[in-house]
Amino acid sequence: MGYKIPLFNLNFDEREAQAAYDTIRSGWISTGPKNEQLEQMFTEMLRVGHAVSVTNCTSALHLCCLVCGLGPGDEVLVPSLTFAASVNCIRYVGATPVFCDIAGPDDLNIDPEGLEKKITPRTRAVVVVHMAGFPARMDGIMAVARRHGLKVIEDACHGPLSEYRGEKIGTIGDCAAFSFFSNKNISTGEGGMFVTNDGEMAKKARLLRSHGMTTMSYQRASGHATSYDILELGYNYRMDDIRAAIAIEQLKKLPADLERRAEVRRRYVERLAAVGDLVVPFAGNREFVSNYIMPVVLTGGDAEYRDSIRGNMHAAGIQTSVHYPAVHRFSVYRGFPAALPQTEFVTDHEITLPMYAALTGEQVDFIVKTLDCSLHG
Ligand SMILES: Cc1ncc(COP(=O)(O)O)c(C=O)c1O
Repeated sequence: MGYKIPLFNLNFDEREAQAAYDTIRSGWISTGPKNEQLEQMFTEMLRVGHAVSVTNCTSALHLCCLVCGLGPGDEVLVPSLTFAASVNCIRYVGATPVFCDIAGPDDLNIDPEGLEKKITPRTRAVVVVHMAGFPARMDGIMAVARRHGLKVIEDACHGPLSEYRGEKIGTIGDCAAFSFFSNKNISTGEGGMFVTNDGEMAKKARLLRSHGMTTMSYQRASGHATSYDILELGYNYRMDDIRAAIAIEQLKKLPADLERRAEVRRRYVERLAAVGDLVVPFAGNREFVSNYIMPVVLTGGDAEYRDSIRGNMHAAGIQTSVHYPAVHRFSVYRGFPAALPQTEFVTDHEITLPMYAALTGEQVDFIVKTLDCSLHG
């Protein structure tokens, strides 16, 4: 609010408003036909077997942990450079997160080489986060997982339609979670999607999404079922049809939005090359990606210095952020010590610059010039 150039800008227009209006007028606003349509679109766009819409990515991650059968006594490998939800979901099921380092400032994803060193006889799974929508090195991760019989959960929250060697991220591991939070590539305010190619996992996720009940209200209201049983202790992780209708419009816009974001990133990378004293993460990436955010990592100074640079940019009307304050440093994770030198460096030196499809070339130039002046006077 109040910035000349915000970090993110919602691409809503009349289409989302009309979709929400039409759903309200249809008389059915809870989970129903719009969710079914959204799930179908999602499976087609991702070329994945099953998609189950949910309230948010956090609930999708919880379902991932449940369908992977994780529980007390199990250890789960996870990066600390992520949003807390990627780690919290492990604790929801009583399992223990084991923090792993990222590769470094030029690759903010979990380092496959480091993974193996953290494996113990109790390790059961790994949660992979595809930072900013750039794919983690899934070949190496899947090889480690296969060698040790680990489940692979993809937190693909940042990367709808991002690819790794021609495959969509979120379709490579056992199951995955996407977010439709308002600042994500697909925005519905709150919302998310669980995806998997495993029929049994999908069945279980669908059951747990709605209290473990064998039928849903829409099926009963439309005459397809008259009663239900409750098979498992489930949750209410259902998305309503108003949000699903908005998500459908967002999905239609997604490919063009991502093309435009790629242009914005190209301009950034070109201009930032002349700045110095910073690293542009994933500069070598040639895959199609979502470009959810635009991170840069300063090479010098400390967290205080980084914050002073952010302060200069804010004074010039440019909103920035930090992705992420490392999870292992939060009070609630003090009991989970970890030596994570690359994560600690990045969390103290990273600045997230504005990124959205409507950002103009002139705005990118202004942002980079302001950053350059802040760094070099
Ligand atoms: C990497 C990551 N995982 C999970 C989440 C949680 O998503 P949601 O807010 O949809 O629960 C976020 C949200 O910012 C995120 O960035």
